[in-house]
Amino acid sequence: MKVLLTGATGYIGSAVTDHLAAAGHQVVALTRGAEQQPGRGWHAQLVGDTADPASLAGAVTPDIEAVIHLAPPSGDAAVDTAVIEALAAPLRGTGRPFVYTSGVWVLGATGGAQEVDEQATVNPIDIVGYRPRIEERVLAEAAEGVRAVVVRPGIVYGRGGGIPAILVDRARLQGAPEYYGDQGVRWPTVHVDDLAELFVAAVERAQAGTLWHGVGEPAVAVRDLARAAGRAAGVLAAPHAVPVEQAAEVFGPLFAEALALDQSVSGAAARTALGWQPSRPRAVADLESGSYRPVEVFGAPDGPGTDAEVAAIRRLVAEVEHAQQNELVDRFLSVFRRQDPVWTTGHGKRLSGFEEIASFTRKVLPGAAAESTAVYDVERVLFLRPDVAAVNVRQQPVQHDGTRITDRPEGRPFYLLVKEDGTWRIGAAQNTIVAD
Ligand SMILES: NC(=O)c1ccc[n+]([C@@H]2O[C@H](COP(=O)([O-])OP(=O)(O)OC[C@H]3O[C@@H](n4cnc5c(N)ncnc54)[C@H](OP(=O)(O)O)[C@@H]3O)[C@@H](O)[C@H]2O)c1
Repeated sequence: MKVLLTGATGYIGSAVTDHLAAAGHQVVALTRGAEQQPGRGWHAQLVGDTADPASLAGAVTPDIEAVIHLAPPSGDAAVDTAVIEALAAPLRGTGRPFVYTSGVWVLGATGGAQEVDEQATVNPIDIVGYRPRIEERVLAEAAEGVRAVVVRPGIVYGRGGGIPAILVDRARLQGAPEYYGDQGVRWPTVHVDDLAELFVAAVERAQAGTLWHGVGEPAVAVRDLARAAGRAAGVLAAPHAVPVEQAAEVFGPLFAEALALDQSVSGAAARTALGWQPSRPRAVADLESGSYRPVEVFGAPDGPGTDAEVAAIRRLVAEVEHAQQNELVDRFLSVFRRQDPVWTTGHGKRLSGFEEIASFTRKVLPGAAAESTAVYDVERVLFLRPDVAAVNVRQQPVQHDGTRITDRPEGRPFYLLVKEDGTWRIGAAQNTIVAD
């Protein structure tokens, strides 16, 4: 299909572009700026501004087979109505899809343990007070022969962006992770690539007049997200709650209310009816050890293949951390290659061969985390071959509550990893204390 996409330069729009193209569709991007952006994978580019609905007249030409509207509304009812009119009217009587992007904030605070679904009555918070009216306006197009569909994404994460990136920035700025409002606040979340796949599914097969929650995890504790954001920022202090009034001084009262909103929202309907299958890492894992943790990568081309290898290497290093923190001898040993591994410890002890490493580990690991432990972060990966990688790691000593132990030096482990039978393992490792 040839799909007109508003908001194509944005966070969600970039992912939707990628997934539409991967599914064989052509993206015609509607952008505010006229400068050409050849690297984005668009089939064509049109200029238009949703603040000026007249500029959209003529955007939906007869060859446009679907419209996905991601650009945010202005909040001015007359302008927003005129925008929907300009984008949907040319599709009337064609049965072609018009997919509008709303958001779960129209549901307001859901409270309780029960996840709310698409049948729940809306109760929008102030920042999106105008949105239910637009949803209704869009869905009314179903009666006019438009395959009108509304998608309400949860809090979008992934690719190092979205609202969770604010948590990372704030943790870095403040030296401690923070979350807003009550400590029990939960956000429904969705990975940006999973959400993009939902938009593709909606364009391809959602029925006219339907509404879908784009939610991967119904209710993620924001406190956990904040802690993970702290890790992403390299800040190890425990997260603390910022009262909404104080958050309003930083973010403004409307956005502060949204950040403090407690919601539990089901995304089950889209899975059942549209065959949508969210598969990306969960929000906490992605913050803690995924796309919010920049790793320098050398020796391999940019792209999903390299991303997957780097993610697998990060999992291996996370396994080293987990095994050490929990004194799990067998799991620690499982990260080593069986054949002739070598390891020089942070104290300068050289271990040669799997048996020597195993007997040393059995001796020293039990009890090693009694007083304190360490966290490990991948900093740099050099692919010497597709199946051989040199990896620089940062090791920081911490208390059990994650607080950094400042009077103990950091380590800089260096791992030479080998991928055998589809699994990365340590072939050689050396830990070096950072002297200053
Ligand atoms: N991110 C989330 O967690 C989330 C959750 C639920 C719903 N949503 C909704 O999803 C939509 C997209 O969000 P996003 O996170 O991708 O936002 P974003 O990164 O800020 O992108 C917004 C996009 O809209 C375009 N745009 C802004 N004003 C415009 C105008 N007046 N005319 C034409 N284009 C305009 C921007 O183009 P320029 O390049 O010209 O700025 C950009 O491409 C929004 O409606 C948002 O409310 C987002």
